[in-house]
Amino acid sequence: MNCADTRLIHDATKPGEAPMDQDMIDLVACDESHLDGALRLSREAGWPHRREDWAMVLSLSQGFIALQGDTVVGTVMMTPFGTGFATINMVIVAATMRGRGLGRRLMDAALRACGKRECRLIATADGLPLYEKLGFRGTHEICQHQGILRADAALASIPTSGMEWAHAGDFTAIADIDRQALGIDRRPLLHLLAETGRMALLREGNRIVGYGALRQFGRGEVIGPVIADNPAQAQTILSFLMDTRPGAFLRVDTPLPGGLSPWLAARGLAEVGGGIAMRKGPERPAPTGPAQSFALASQALG
Ligand SMILES: CC(C)(COP(=O)(O)OP(=O)(O)OC[C@H]1O[C@@H](n2cnc3c(N)ncnc32)[C@H](O)[C@@H]1OP(=O)(O)O)[C@@H](O)C(=O)NCCC(=O)NCCS
Repeated sequence: MNCADTRLIHDATKPGEAPMDQDMIDLVACDESHLDGALRLSREAGWPHRREDWAMVLSLSQGFIALQGDTVVGTVMMTPFGTGFATINMVIVAATMRGRGLGRRLMDAALRACGKRECRLIATADGLPLYEKLGFRGTHEICQHQGILRADAALASIPTSGMEWAHAGDFTAIADIDRQALGIDRRPLLHLLAETGRMALLREGNRIVGYGALRQFGRGEVIGPVIADNPAQAQTILSFLMDTRPGAFLRVDTPLPGGLSPWLAARGLAEVGGGIAMRKGPERPAPTGPAQSFALASQALG
């Protein structure tokens, strides 16, 4: 859902609540015209996103922008996956405006848009106190790895038999395995990933048991999602994709419970931070297959 409607959203304050102690801030629906301002905010916050990365999230999301006059001073996106699940992401308030309730206002707007869906997000240390106050609970840690791969032959020797590049005809099988792993239908996201990057498959016999995607993002390229039955399969998928990008700056966001963090660090992708995966609202249906997620499409999209 791309929100091109920029009418003002009259949620500013609840009846009886004191207005913000600053110039009036309007919340408006986000469209392409706000992306330069959003990009400036994310750069100021030290985030690596390019305009294209913002545009990709917006194309899947309903976004809200806090405007002081014409200046973007806050952002948030609610990305729905069907009627049962959503992520909230790109939550940023300009450094000079923090601590005055604007983050909460943006989150309230996103949560209203989220409706009855289960809502997930990845919290930074800055965001954690706000999300806890809003009723989110931590589920696990996400480790952000990035860097340039080590070239040592011994480290690069994981066999990648069973791997091949995905073709258009594989899309349904990829979407099925993704849904088995996560319990949600992410076809709109997967279409975008296939359009903007490349996908690779792992076959065992005739069965597709996992896949991985590679695309440009931020300072370089990102590998994710990676979906597989076990860590060994995930390493095979990652190795196949890594081997195609010697010398490139790569990023992988991996859930700590998957156990791949030390392996990624040994390959030269240092752990540089991460976040806490949090959830709120009704639980989505439990995943149905042995497959699980070993790398995120991004911290915004899960
Ligand atoms: C996270 C962020 C959006 C919060 O925005 P903000 O406008 O400062 O938040 P608010 O002023 O609305 O604060 C909301 C609540 O969280 C609390 N809070 C915010 N930051 C806090 C902190 N560091 N420690 C403790 N409590 C904090 C506030 O006390 C407030 O509680 P209240 O509503 O009960 O009074 C902002 O710090 C930011 O942009 N950080 C950089 C980007 C980032 O990391 N974003 C989060 C991505 S997951």
